[in-house]
Parts: sequence; structure tokens; C-alpha cells
Amino acid sequence: MRKSRAAITGVHGYVPPDVLSNAELAKMVDTSDEWIVERTGIKERRILKGKGLGTSHMGAQAVEALLAKTATSPEEIDLLICATTTPDFVFPSTANLICEMCGIRSVGSFDVQAACSGFIYALTIAAQFIENGKSRKIVVVGADKMSAIIDYTDRATCVLFGDGAGAVLLEPNNKFGIIDTLISSDGSGMPHLHQKAGGSRMPPTAETVAKRLHYVHQEGAAVYKFAVARMAEVAGELMKRNRLNGDDVDWLVPHQANRRIIEATAERMKLPAERVMVTIQKFGNTTAATIPLCLWDYEHRLKAGDRLILAAFGGGFTWGGAYLTWAYDSQ
Ligand code: ACO
Repeated sequence: MRKSRAAITGVHGYVPPDVLSNAELAKMVDTSDEWIVERTGIKERRILKGKGLGTSHMGAQAVEALLAKTATSPEEIDLLICATTTPDFVFPSTANLICEMCGIRSVGSFDVQAACSGFIYALTIAAQFIENGKSRKIVVVGADKMSAIIDYTDRATCVLFGDGAGAVLLEPNNKFGIIDTLISSDGSGMPHLHQKAGGSRMPPTAETVAKRLHYVHQEGAAVYKFAVARMAEVAGELMKRNRLNGDDVDWLVPHQANRRIIEATAERMKLPAERVMVTIQKFGNTTAATIPLCLWDYEHRLKAGDRLILAAFGGGFTWGGAYLTWAYDSQ
């Protein structure tokens, strides 16, 4: 007998109400709407404002709405995993905080940190718990408050990122669900994309703050080169080992870092633009949240049996992908 697959049986997202447009950024740094749109495809992004609100706030909003939408009570959840690079605290985990906020008690909950590939990593882990029969209802969250670690005097990074969260419910399914996953990493990518201070190697001091070392450091051109290659590679590998060609894939769900990277990946997969999910224009790069936010945004267009390839690339470097069949028609 074939073992159950882990299927996504619901998705919901949350983006904060405050919009930061390209025009507003052009008043803060030397940039323009034209440059940002041409190089990245981003028109605006959302920013979480409000004292004391961290990543968990957005994650909890997404999870609460997901539970309501799928008529799931908090008591039914077995496990909650949160992918994030901007946890509220070093500890406890953001997953612990989201559980508390949503009334999910006495279950395993932990964070996964794989930068922009975090959601794929978390989904891969969660799928094992369903497939081996240990769990029946798992919530996987991708959430990041990137505005907390962005230097709004650095034009090379501040135009790229936004805040948001997305959550999916995973359940066993005999017909549809996750068929294949792939995760990978290359630690030599660290110099090109990292946050210099705030961890155990360089704990926070007045000097690290004064030197602005608590922000994202990205060498855009170097990261771009790797991102294009690895995103296409991971999608290509999943297609090859599952004997898929471009016509067999209904949707590419790519991490949203740059419209040009998304287009290059789709081109190599021989997928037309109308089968590629894109939300970058309105949310920017929300790190671990981009893929669940895409699924949420396009949910009304998805049908049971649709074949999806998810692909991500991020800091580390990390990359990963998943091949799955969608499990339901949206109402
Ligand atoms: N406005 C105007 N000019 C700018 C801006 C801006 N916002 N930002 C940079 N520039 C300038 C640079 O200073 C540079 O000027 P110079 O030639 O006088 O030195 C010029 O534009 C070109 O800079 P590049 O960095 O080479 O620009 P590029 O075309 O590569 O675009 C970008 C930059 C958008 C960041 C691109 O490199 C990119 O998308 N990289 C990949 C990002 C990514 O995938 N990250 C991984 C996921 S993120 C994560 O894991 C946290």
C-alpha cells in the first residue's frame, strides 16, 4: 500500500496595511521608481509598524485566518514549524510565540532558518512527519519582518525587501500532495549575503550599532548570478527526476527576489509567463513568506490535481524546491 502524501489543504497570508512605495523610497535614498521597476519589478512593499510587533504578529494573523478558513480548531494541530530569518527573539522561537497567540498548546513547535529558502526547508521537514504517520495536521509558516534588519540609508538593499507572512495546513492525502522535495546549500556564499553583527560571533555592542552592522549586507550582482543558476537548476532537477516537461507543469511558484530571476527560471523551464506566480510588484521580497504568499494570492485559480513546482534561493547560500499536486478546488 502506498503511504500517504502530505498535501496542502489550506493557505492564508497576512501583509501589514502600511505601504512603502518606490516614490517614498526615492525621497529617502538616491533611487527612482524607474530604476527599481526595471531592475527588480517591485512597485511597492508592506512594512509592519507598531510598537512591540514582531514577525510572530504577522505569523499569528496568517495562522488564525488559516484555522478559521479550514474549520480547524487549535487543538487539532500536531506540530507548527515557522521559517524565519527575523525571529522576534533569539529565543524562544517564533513558532513557540505563534502557538501561544493562536491557542495551539502542548505541541512541538520550532523555527527553521534557511533565509529565503526557509519555507521550502520547513515544508520538506513537515512532509516527513505526515508521511511517516507521526502527525496528521501540521501548520507551516513562512514569516519575515525584513524592515527590522534593513538599512534605509542603503539604496542597494532597502528597495528590495518587505514584510509579510503566509501559512499552509498540511494533512495526509491518498491522491494529491508533495511528491518530491530537494534542499541544498553552499556555505561559501556567506560573504555575499549576511548580517554581520548580532549573533554569537559578533554580539551587539554600541560600536556594532554605530557601524550599522545589524543590517542585511548583500553583494547584489554576485547573489544574482548564483540565484539565476540555482533556481533554474533546482526546478530542472525536479522536472528531470519526475519526468516532467514544460507542458506538464501547471504553475511555477518561485521565490520572489527579483522579476528578472523569476523570468530567467521560467524561460529555462520553457514555461509561459501566465503559468508563473508573481507577487513581487506589490510585496517585494518577503524572504520566507514569498512562496506561501504566492499560493494565497493565486489560490482562487488553483484546481485539484494542478502540478506545481516551488523553487527558492537565499542567503547561506541555500536553495530548494518541491514538486506537488494541488489538493483542492478553491471555493
Ligand atoms: N537605485 C539606483 N541605483 C542603484 C540602486 C538603487 N536602488 N541600487 C544599486 N544601484 C546602483 C549601484 O550603486 C550600481 O552603481 P555603480 O555602477 O555606479 O556602482 C548600479 O546601480 C548597478 O548595481 P548592481 O548591484 O550591479 O545592480 P543589479 O543590476 O545587479 O541589480 C539587484 C541589483 C536588484 C540587487 C540584483 O543584483 C539582485 O536582484 N540580486 C539578487 C538578489 C537575491 O536574489 N537575493 C537572494 C534572496 S535574499 C535573501 O536570502 C535574504
